Amino acid sequence: MDPKAANGGRTDNDTTKRLILPTSITRRTFIRSTGLVAGAVAAGPLLSACGAIGGSSGGGGPLKIGLLLPYSDIYAVLGESITESMKMYFENNGNEAGGRTIEIIQEDTQLKPDIAMEKARKLVEQDEVDLVAGIVSSGVAVGLRDYFHENKKLLLIANAGANVLTRAKKSPYIFRTSFSNWQPNWPLGNWAYDNVAQKVFVSAPDYGAGHDMANAFLNSFEGKGGQLVADPQFTPFPQMGDPAPFITEIQQANPDMVYTFYSGGAAVTFVKAYGEFGLTGSIPLVAAGFTVEEDVLPAQGDAALGTVSGLHWALQLENATNATFTAAYKERTGKDANVFAMQGYDTARVIVDSINAVEGNTTDLDPLIDAIAGVKFDSPRGQFKFDENTHNVINPVYIRRVEEVDGALHNVVIDELGDYVDPGDDSKG
Ligand code: BEZ
Repeated sequence: MDPKAANGGRTDNDTTKRLILPTSITRRTFIRSTGLVAGAVAAGPLLSACGAIGGSSGGGGPLKIGLLLPYSDIYAVLGESITESMKMYFENNGNEAGGRTIEIIQEDTQLKPDIAMEKARKLVEQDEVDLVAGIVSSGVAVGLRDYFHENKKLLLIANAGANVLTRAKKSPYIFRTSFSNWQPNWPLGNWAYDNVAQKVFVSAPDYGAGHDMANAFLNSFEGKGGQLVADPQFTPFPQMGDPAPFITEIQQANPDMVYTFYSGGAAVTFVKAYGEFGLTGSIPLVAAGFTVEEDVLPAQGDAALGTVSGLHWALQLENATNATFTAAYKERTGKDANVFAMQGYDTARVIVDSINAVEGNTTDLDPLIDAIAGVKFDSPRGQFKFDENTHNVINPVYIRRVEEVDGALHNVVIDELGDYVDPGDDSKG
């Protein structure tokens, strides 16, 4: 399929336009354009006008990196995957950056914004880390945003996709190396309308990411003329409980296709129930790729077969960096890599490249922010590059289908839709 056609014409042009933005858009432009959102804040600044807080020693001593991730509840495997691959990247690169030895301090955010805030404060104010990375859940990320923004502390988001952080609440101090929730889903809505069906039932967890992802899918799908057969179904988060009533509701609505986003433990619960109720193979399942990623496929088994999904990576993507990354991850953990591990690997690389560029100086924030914004490299997903307007990564979108490959289930790439830049506002879902 022609990738341009999959973008729906007009939007492909938009995407291209955004990709060739002049490099003269500076950090100052970014700050000016985000000034409006800085006011309405609960967390409050820690320090006075004299500048950024924390930072162990700026130019000497270890480079302290705070890792804020869930190591419990339904997204624990996501947190562990990101941690393992970050450590792997650092270790494979001498465990140093800018002449400073890397020291990691891990904290469990669970899936609770209040716990995450406590842990963030501990990392920044007691441990005096140079920067913080991680964050899996959109709800946690949104809860922490004002703290990092107001205190001018660097946060590299390695998963949480909350759209608002690239839009009304973007911050020059927050970079996202993973995706916005819009990015894989809006192109998928177009693609599913053209290639799968025109009448859909939507099921997603009832929290920020579930709503963001469903909205993005529906924005392009309905824009083409697609129809919802019933109101979207939003299930309890984080624990869905018994999935039977939700699957029964889907059966009764009798759609031509189901769109869904779940991840971690919830993805296993939903997809297994989809199979047990006999829907696998009878009602096509189209999903945000996290739903059937490599971390959950072994537990989902045949219930996942045939699921088509959109995502910015696939295990079997053929490029040299992906070959190196997936082999090293398998050797280290005994498991296939997954998209969360890939995001951790890229986050670690962004840290090493940018800290090298400023020769280890984390005290002067402006040059460090410029260095991070300018990082570019060949990633396992394709070219890695930030959008200068938002500090969100520009992502390729791949359409994958779950198939049996050499006796195991994997996501096989069946289409490539090109690069997508988050629109930076809510105009497209
Ligand atoms: C989120 O909460 O943003 C999220 C969690 C898991 C997978 C993808 C997104």
